[in-house]
Amino acid sequence: MEDLRLVIKHVQDASRYEHTLGVAYTAACLAGVYGIDTRKAIRAGLLHDCAKCMSDLETISLCKEYGIAISEVEMRNPSALLHAKLGAKLAFDKYNEKDEDVLAAIEYHTTGRTDMSMLEKIVFVADYMEPGRDKAPNLYEIRKLAFHDIDKALVTILQDTLEYLSCKNKEIDPATKRTLEYYSEQQ
Ligand SMILES: [Fe+2]
Ligand SMILES: [Fe+2]
Repeated sequence: MEDLRLVIKHVQDASRYEHTLGVAYTAACLAGVYGIDTRKAIRAGLLHDCAKCMSDLETISLCKEYGIAISEVEMRNPSALLHAKLGAKLAFDKYNEKDEDVLAAIEYHTTGRTDMSMLEKIVFVADYMEPGRDKAPNLYEIRKLAFHDIDKALVTILQDTLEYLSCKNKEIDPATKRTLEYYSEQQ
């Protein structure tokens, strides 16, 4: 685990690395509460943004190399939307992560998806609420919710994310909307 932390430190800038440690730490805390393997949660946290510190050009060219299908909305926002899918491939290929659940948690950490595993939910939520985050609304409520009703925390995060993106006139990945619809219906 220490080796992985140091390897990741070398491919991220200082603020991304701080965020990464925050996600790994938060994911470990949530894993403890929900009975998930803590070491898996830490690995997923450390690896979730392993493809984030790259140029758009590099992101697209690596995605093509790995045969990742790129949608139009992803092509217009490569770093923001493709780093999760690419991250899962790099985690497998470059960082020797072979656990399917960890790889899925990396792949779906930005948009979520229907029927997520507990580890996927944990990484998604940890990414949003790790201690270094201080800009998003409702962080206090989300942090409290996450430890006793993770699905409700997930829905609140998705709602706030969609609202933020539409306020800023930023593009929304349809996958995010699908995740929100699915988990809103479950409430
Ligand atoms: Fe990310
Ligand atoms: Fe992240």
